[in-house]
Amino acid sequence: MSGFSSRTDFPREWNPLARALAERRARGEALVDLTESNPTRAGLPLPDPGLLATSEAFTYAPEPTGLRSAREAVASYLGTRGVAVSAEHLILSASTSEAYAWLFKLLCEPGDNVLVPAPCYPLFEYLARLEGVELRPYRLPHAHGFGLDVGEVAAEGDARSRAVLVVNPGNPTGHFLHEGELAALAAVCEERGLALICDEVFSEFSWDEEPDRVATVAGRTLPMLTFSLSGLSKVAGMPGLKLGWTHVGGPSAARDEALGRLELVADTFLSVGTPVQQALPALLGHAPRFQAALLARVKENRGQLVAARPESASWSVVPAHGGWCAVLRIPREPGEEATCLALLEAGVLVQPGYFYDFAGGAFLVLSLLPPPEVFGAALGALVRVLAG
Ligand SMILES: Cc1ncc(COP(=O)(O)O)c(C=O)c1O
Repeated sequence: MSGFSSRTDFPREWNPLARALAERRARGEALVDLTESNPTRAGLPLPDPGLLATSEAFTYAPEPTGLRSAREAVASYLGTRGVAVSAEHLILSASTSEAYAWLFKLLCEPGDNVLVPAPCYPLFEYLARLEGVELRPYRLPHAHGFGLDVGEVAAEGDARSRAVLVVNPGNPTGHFLHEGELAALAAVCEERGLALICDEVFSEFSWDEEPDRVATVAGRTLPMLTFSLSGLSKVAGMPGLKLGWTHVGGPSAARDEALGRLELVADTFLSVGTPVQQALPALLGHAPRFQAALLARVKENRGQLVAARPESASWSVVPAHGGWCAVLRIPREPGEEATCLALLEAGVLVQPGYFYDFAGGAFLVLSLLPPPEVFGAALGALVRVLAG
């Protein structure tokens, strides 16, 4: 249709699974939703709503990069995780999604590209397209447990590549970045003049210990411009409060130029609300309680899933180390969509791997957030349908 930008000409057709789901809901039939990713609907600890009623909540004295007190709260939160950063190097935004849009504006001319992991949560396609930026997916090989293979990154880059995006740990694959992978990636970034954008929203949610794991790139000495992203959405389970942060690091001249430019971008929008910034120290004080409850939840649900798998099953739970999801590898036949539709018919909603751009096999993605009794109630049908 004329009169609209091609950037917003997104396909909006429903896929067969979405149609079948709408039909089932219209019939009022019960469903166990193993795609639930909203932490506020999972019965996990919430902060006291009174925290947002600060005495200064209605004042307006904006600082483009975020109120100093709020940036200091993020710096001291990172300090509790053993990461030393300066509040001067932090920029607040309404979410990490918004931070991505600002970074694409900062780094890319229209037509430039950024290298993004595949499989991955489908977050970047719309963000990039709205900024006129192209995506170059690099594969996270299944053979490496969906870990980063720097050869795949290097092979996808070209003269118009401006940044590499790393999701650490991957969503939904749950694999963390390791020191050796970061060192190899840093060498490629330095050689090709690429910035590193590291999405660390799930970094707090590790299920085990691993040697050489990189928890965050914030506060590290790296040879390239480095952006480390996180926010209240996952750290405190509060996506509705709309507050994320970006730590900017790397060689000091490039870092300071990036901070100066980002300050202007942020000043153009001033998108973070005052009450949430004022409440941030208290909200981050609540975060460890939420994180502990969430971790116990996902570990219990994963334990139930692993225990429910019959020894001779033709499907498996893909090994992982963190995050909020489980990935199942299933037989190629009947495949992802047919299996999802059969599960829906049996009253269980899961996501097909294609939603996350999995390749080289058939996969399902299950949220580990539902209460254990809800999650457990779905496992009988899951095992039965997967047995064919
Ligand atoms: C890896 C990853 N990064 C970022 C986001 C978006 O977070 P925010 O709510 O801060 O925009 C998501 C959303 O699920 C995500 O999975």
